Amino acid sequence: MSGDLRTNSILGATLGAVLGTMAIGLFANGVVHSNYPEKAGYLPEVTAEEGGGGPSAPAGPPDFGRLFADQTQLASLVTHGQQVTAVCGACHDFTAGGPNRTGPNLHDVFGRHSASHPGFDYSDAMKAHNVTWDYLTLNAFLTSPGTAVRGTRMAFAGIHNENDRVAAIAYLRSISPNNVPLPAPLPEAAPAAAAGGAATTTTTTATTTAHGTN
Ligand code: HEC
Repeated sequence: MSGDLRTNSILGATLGAVLGTMAIGLFANGVVHSNYPEKAGYLPEVTAEEGGGGPSAPAGPPDFGRLFADQTQLASLVTHGQQVTAVCGACHDFTAGGPNRTGPNLHDVFGRHSASHPGFDYSDAMKAHNVTWDYLTLNAFLTSPGTAVRGTRMAFAGIHNENDRVAAIAYLRSISPNNVPLPAPLPEAAPAAAAGGAATTTTTTATTTAHGTN
């Protein structure tokens, strides 16, 4: 049914939505109308597959409150984070009571105050940083250490892939005895997920799956 309307919606999310809306107006007898809710019905599936950090996510920090809320998803992030943080092992020990190396022991760094691990000679820049290492402060630091803490001695470019960075933070959190309350999910995420039926904004995420089911 109505193949070229589907094609349009695959080519461009906004275009598809606009055409769909126009088509409903033009062919109000329902030929096109029946296609519209069917397409929208694929949305939850796509959302679940992507699992966050979608293409429409703006430049803001990751939505930790949402990403870490689901225990299954969190467990796979922790596993992935352990792999991501293997590179840190060149300079950091992660074990409880383990030594300082080129960098300080990181076992309890999540929830620990910056530059506070005993026996490590921190740079003046790190001593002046004065934060608790939590979701957002670690996210900023690990994105680009030298930008977040100008003059740090941590000679590491950063974890540029957001999913990898979030996973690294999930891992650091999982090994730390410190508890830092999870931030509330960001407000933008809720309307997109809850819109369900006819939201123009969610059409973007439907394109891939709509293509796959044709
Ligand atoms: C080349 C060595 C090196 C690598 C690789 C490295 N670090 Fe570091 N890291 C350091 C040094 C040195 C410091 C202390 C920085 C200072 O005093 O300015 C540090 C400090 C830190 C701190 C602050 C600790 C505190 O007690 O305040 C965190 C958090 C951290 N690193 C996380 C990581 C993570 C996560 C990775 C891997 C993704 C990593 N580092 C990779 C050398 C490294």
